[in-house]
Amino acid sequence: MSDAFVQLSDLTLSYGKSVAVPNLDLSIREGELIALLGPSGCGKTTTMRAIAGLLSPTGGTITIDGRDVTRVPANKRGIGLVFQSYALFPHLTAFENVAFGLRLQKLPEAEIKQRTEEGLATVGLTGFEKRKPAEMSGGQQQRVALARSLVMRPKVLLLDEPLSNLDARLRLEMRTELQRVQKETGITMVFVTHDQAEALALADRIVLMKDGKIEQLGTPADLYARPETAFAAEFMGFENIFKVEGEEIVTTSGRLPLEARPESPILAWRPDAVTVGSGPHEGRVAACSFAGAHREYVIDSALGPIKADAAITLPEVPLGEAIRFDLPLATARGLAA
Ligand SMILES: Nc1ncnc2c1ncn2[C@@H]1O[C@H](COP(=O)(O)OP(=O)(O)OP(=O)(O)O)[C@@H](O)[C@H]1O
Ligand SMILES: [Mg+2]
Repeated sequence: MSDAFVQLSDLTLSYGKSVAVPNLDLSIREGELIALLGPSGCGKTTTMRAIAGLLSPTGGTITIDGRDVTRVPANKRGIGLVFQSYALFPHLTAFENVAFGLRLQKLPEAEIKQRTEEGLATVGLTGFEKRKPAEMSGGQQQRVALARSLVMRPKVLLLDEPLSNLDARLRLEMRTELQRVQKETGITMVFVTHDQAEALALADRIVLMKDGKIEQLGTPADLYARPETAFAAEFMGFENIFKVEGEEIVTTSGRLPLEARPESPILAWRPDAVTVGSGPHEGRVAACSFAGAHREYVIDSALGPIKADAAITLPEVPLGEAIRFDLPLATARGLAA
């Protein structure tokens, strides 16, 4: 724990009598970009609010940079916040929006100017100083919001779904931008999202949460390749997850034999790990969609629907026709029960 910059220890967070996050332990290293990932209601925002000091824990402690801040008020924690709604002042220019917090601190005018210009440059908005929010795109407004937090030089920057108001293209752009800013400034960031691709693309480590608890914690590569539970696997795009009994896969619709008895009680395949066009099993094409480099099939099988990606070079099998497939043990991910 010695290298923890932000340390949550046995943290319990409640609303009245209902516990949203029970006994959470989490260590965040300095300069790390951590993504909190999980479905709606799993406690991501609640955890962020506690780190920020906007919600008092009912148990446990929070330390930041070696200091116990559990009872320290929000404005004394050195935390910056960026939310989904950028909440810029509409009547102020980009410059004045970014300078706002610095002015409250009554810093000398020259320093305010220098830090504000630096902040705008960091987010790629040099030249936009005089624009008002209404004269900027959503992505540019979100950058102003980011700059506004950065100029305060927070120890930790908390971002709660900051990209979810942006359209797909801007989201991608801001994702890269955020990563660059983080590496350049070295600020420790906690980033909340329920978008698995966003977490994979951005984070140094991902904290996957379920019902207020950590389901799995690891690098993006770890979580992507080695989810440990069915929940984690489902979140990471394993669309075919089945129970095993002996040498057979079993669902409520039926059974399918495997080539050997697997070690794990649950097996999961990504669509691209399913063999299509050959194999010991037969199903029918229930759906087929073109996805550029491959076709995405839904195969009606003894197990129910199976999602399978086939190389575009394989001839397309029409709807309703028979199609061969395999769920090879070699490409399966074994999961705990
Ligand atoms: N102000 C509140 N009063 C009572 N319960 C709350 C309050 N805010 C959140 N909760 C409950 O706490 C749990 C965690 O909520 P939280 O907002 O942390 O989820 P989240 O992971 O951020 O979800 P989302 O992805 O929808 O933003 C949920 O069950 C939610 O209903
Ligand atoms: Mg939330």
